[in-house]
Amino acid sequence: MTTADGRPRVLLGVAGGIAAYKVVEFLRLLTESGHAVRVIPTPSALEFVGAATWAALSGEPVTTGVFDGPHDVPHVALGRSADLLFIAPATADLLARAAQGRADDLLTATLLTVRCPVVFAPAMHTEMWDHPATQANVARLRERGAIVLDPAVGRLTGADSGKGRLPEAQSLYDVARVVLARGQLPLDLAGRHVVVTAGGTREYLDPVRFLGNRSSGRQGWALATTAIARGARVTLIAANVTLTPPAGAELVAVGSARQLGLAVTAAAAEADVVVMAAAVADFRPAHPSTTKIKKGVDEPTFLDLVRNDDILASLALGRRPGQVIVGFAAETDDALANGRAKLAAKGADVMVVNPVGETRGFERTDNEGVILEAGGRETEVPLGSKEALADSVWDAVARCLGPERTSR
Ligand code: CTP
Repeated sequence: MTTADGRPRVLLGVAGGIAAYKVVEFLRLLTESGHAVRVIPTPSALEFVGAATWAALSGEPVTTGVFDGPHDVPHVALGRSADLLFIAPATADLLARAAQGRADDLLTATLLTVRCPVVFAPAMHTEMWDHPATQANVARLRERGAIVLDPAVGRLTGADSGKGRLPEAQSLYDVARVVLARGQLPLDLAGRHVVVTAGGTREYLDPVRFLGNRSSGRQGWALATTAIARGARVTLIAANVTLTPPAGAELVAVGSARQLGLAVTAAAAEADVVVMAAAVADFRPAHPSTTKIKKGVDEPTFLDLVRNDDILASLALGRRPGQVIVGFAAETDDALANGRAKLAAKGADVMVVNPVGETRGFERTDNEGVILEAGGRETEVPLGSKEALADSVWDAVARCLGPERTSR
């Protein structure tokens, strides 16, 4: 349900954690991109950021209890009007109360009345996140159809760091945008673990020089965010990507093709889907120098290269029963014919063929392509956002996986 002026209606729940200050920026991103946002803090959230800040930035009243203005029955009115309920930070206490279905403040009462998608962005100390009680609460909320983002790894409140950090405002915003765009569509990847590779590998000639490629990682990032919005658990293996990590994905940073191969093979052992969106170098220098190559000293006159293993082909060969393997074929000419040949040669289930060139494909936010499925189905995806292409890839993957799982 949108507001009378056509803006999507977002309820932004804020629980009592130090990361509430980062949510101020998230709120700005939402309002500045045309969303009507009502902030619902818990009483303890106001210990961190005051009601005046939330009210001024949202342009809407801010209350914390069901008895503030009871004539409007606020929790019911708010719940009915919402297109998305996004809770950030979701503390251990908030997750526990939500999992139990308690209604002891306006936010938890509203959680029981909404019928729109619900996203929790937990943030807490690692010990609290890892505690079996919290993990059981998270599992329960996911079973009920909520999206619970895994916290990011990094600096926590003090000098300590670990898993438990609230993802950056921009990544939270990306998830909110994609979930809103999906509306009431089912979480067809719930209970699935997907592995996505992104970026481009670097093959070092010496400690400072490498053979690389133009992949920015944006298509892999879009695949990760859209999979999270469809309920999947995502491991994102990123080769030399400088973008802000997507919210909710487990990030593994790699450099070379061999490192990427090891990381993806390990992650694939218990994954339902592997998507090889990374641009992997086919060759690496046969004799990389351990010291910087100098002019006039053992000057190389040609580059001796050796072939890297074909990771996609070996993943397809060793796939577990029911596992879906997806490749990307970036082609400059005869794209479709080359893509069809690659699908067959590598034994993948799906091959995404996308035309690339000086001004196409790389370092851009848009993309296009044709999605080839081993069963013969071919789906053309016109030029649009990388998220639109990603969603079409997940549609093909969902077809290959078969019926949904109900729990994760
Ligand atoms: N790929 C891989 N391992 C490699 C090279 C590529 O897993 N050593 C994967 C890529 O991640 C992509 C797919 O294979 O999903 C196709 O990559 P591409 O470079 O287009 O294919 P190549 O087999 O390298 O063919 P070409 O000769 O056209 O470079």
